Parts: sequence; structure tokens; C-alpha cells
Amino acid sequence: MNNRAVIIGTGHYTPEGILTNADLERMVDTSDEWIITRTGIRERHIRADGEATSDFIVSAAREALKESGKKATDLEAIIVGTVTPDYRLPSTACVVQRKLEVPKAAVLDIAAACAGFIYGLALGKALVESGMYRTLLVAGAEALTSITNYQDRDTCVLFGDGSGCAVVSRSENGDQDRGILATHISGDGRLGDLLNMPIGGSKVPLTPENYHQRGHLLQMDGREVFKHAVREMADSCQQSLAQAGLSVDDIDLIIPHQANIRIIDALVKKLNADRSKVFVNIERYGNTSSASVPIALDEALRTGKITPGMTVLMTAFGGGFAWGSAIVRF
Ligand code: ACO
Repeated sequence: MNNRAVIIGTGHYTPEGILTNADLERMVDTSDEWIITRTGIRERHIRADGEATSDFIVSAAREALKESGKKATDLEAIIVGTVTPDYRLPSTACVVQRKLEVPKAAVLDIAAACAGFIYGLALGKALVESGMYRTLLVAGAEALTSITNYQDRDTCVLFGDGSGCAVVSRSENGDQDRGILATHISGDGRLGDLLNMPIGGSKVPLTPENYHQRGHLLQMDGREVFKHAVREMADSCQQSLAQAGLSVDDIDLIIPHQANIRIIDALVKKLNADRSKVFVNIERYGNTSSASVPIALDEALRTGKITPGMTVLMTAFGGGFAWGSAIVRF
């Protein structure tokens, strides 16, 4: 292979506002103790009025570009994983392109929920390796609190806002040992009803009459999602490991989607992985959907948990269902 795709810079951004478990205790019938033991979450970042997904991406992208040594104008494509776009039209990638002032870059949103960043990475790798682009941006970003039903205790304690970005580029030195070694993406549309927003699309447009049903906000059968999440992320990780010719013991750090600490623990058990090699930051961010993996990746890099030569396994699962994994050597 001539064009190995490499992550050359990462960045993340979360809005300043914080919603704690104590705040949620005042909003719905819940408790700090329930939330911590059932999910591992203590607080999450929430957007201010007027703050949008593209704003989070632009801040994270600037960090990632700085780290990569590239200029915004070097970006030939902008790929955004999100289920909370600024608008239905234009795409959030278009808005980001305008804000970063990179006219002519290709612009693409991916609606793969929590797997959006992994999907973007898989696509970015393919685009770079095919020779189509040299350098592109992959973002995972959500203003999830804009679609959270704060009357539903089953879901409202889970979600937070933020973005993580990676600059993906063609390896400059032809080094085949570094870079995005493997990706796997998959899905199962038959299970879409277990995690969805049934109102507000072309099937059932939002009207004053159906607004009170709150179906334009996220709803989920958490218990069912939990089961599928563990099974499919574990399977996807095995597929990426096989593709890369590695075993789980060859992995230095696992970055799982930060949806629930119990899902993470169950995944680690299913993979027979060493728990000390797993990166967890869910207590500070909650579930930020497509932003969760790239926020964690950037934190792990900036805090020295990932050093050059280390091999990292990332995996995510979300609504759709859509899921995937990626193995990257830094
Ligand atoms: N506070 C207090 N009690 C609660 C709360 C709450 N916030 N939420 C639910 N409960 C109650 C329930 O009513 C239920 O009570 P009951 O036994 O009297 O009926 C009890 O707690 C247990 O409810 P479960 O739903 O069985 O709780 P579970 O242990 O499954 O945890 C959770 C729920 C946290 C949602 C979990 O199922 C989960 O994390 N699921 C997966 C979420 C996920 O991964 N989503 C993926 C992607 S999200 C995306 O794509 C945007």
C-alpha cells in the first residue's frame, strides 16, 4: 500500500456550561447515587443558548490543525459525524467549511449516531489511501442536549455536548508501520426503533399538534441498546484486530465509546482485555455520542497516555444501529 492514512493532529472542545447530577436531581426523579452506579456519569458539558455543533467543531478543528502543523486551507475534505446538525440544510460540514474559510473542500455529514467519528475515520482512511485526498478533517460533534427530553429520566441523565476532531493525512515518509491500520463499520437498520427520534423528519413532520408527544427528542430502550452495544462492539473489535493481524494483547490502549461505565466493563470482559488499558472519562462528559471517542482520543494524547509507537483500539455503537472500530498506531 502506497498511501497510508495517518492521524497527524487531534483536538477537542466542550462548552463551558456544566450540568451536574445534583442539577438533574432538581429536574427529574433521580439521584446522584443512581446515576453514578448505573452509568458512571457525574457531570456533562452543555451548550449555551445559540451555541451550535459547528461552533464546537471549529474550536476542536483549530486545535487539531495546530497540532498537525497544517493550515485550514490544506484540508481537501471535511467529514462530520453528527446527529445534531446545525440545520437540516445546509450540512454541518458546509457550515464548518465556511467558518474555517476553506472554500472548495468536499463537505460531508455522516448520521451514524455515536459511531459517527469511527465511520468518518473509516471513510477518511479510504479516501486518503485511494489517493483521492491528501489531507482531511474528521469530526465527531454533538449538541445532544438540544434533542434531549428533560422530562424523561431514562435518557436525560446520560447526554452531554462537545466535539473531537482528527486531521488525517497521507503518510509523508511511506512508513507502513504507523497510521490507521484497520477499520470496521457495520449496522443493523432493523433495530432502528430502539433508539430514535420518530417525529420531525419527512415521515412525520413536526407540527403544533404532535409537538407535545416529544417524539422530536431522543428516545431509547436503554436495556436493549445495552445488550446490542456490548455484543457488536466486541465483534467489531475482533474484526479490526483480525484485519490488522493483531491480538487484543498487542493493544496498548482501548478507547471505547463513553456511553455507560457498565457497557465499558462488559466490553472489556468480552474482549478479555486488561482493564488498566482502557481509557475512561465518562464521569466528566456523559455520553457525547459521536464526540465521545475523539474527545477521549485527544485527552489520551495530550495527557501522555498515548505515546509514539503505541497501538490504540477505538470502538463505538449508537442509534441506527450503527457501530464500528478502528486501530491506529501513533
Ligand atoms: N434515575 C432513577 N431511576 C431511574 C432512572 C434515573 N435517571 N432511569 C431509569 N430509572 C429506573 C427505571 O425506571 C427502572 O425502574 P423499575 O425497576 O422500577 O422499573 C430502573 O431504574 C432500572 O431501569 P433500567 O432501564 O433497567 O436501567 P439500566 O440499568 O438498564 O440503565 C441505562 C439504564 C443507563 C439507560 C442503560 O440501559 C444504558 O446505558 N443503555 C445504553 C445506552 C447507550 O449505550 N446508548 C447508545 C448510544 S446513544 C446514541 O446513539 C445517541
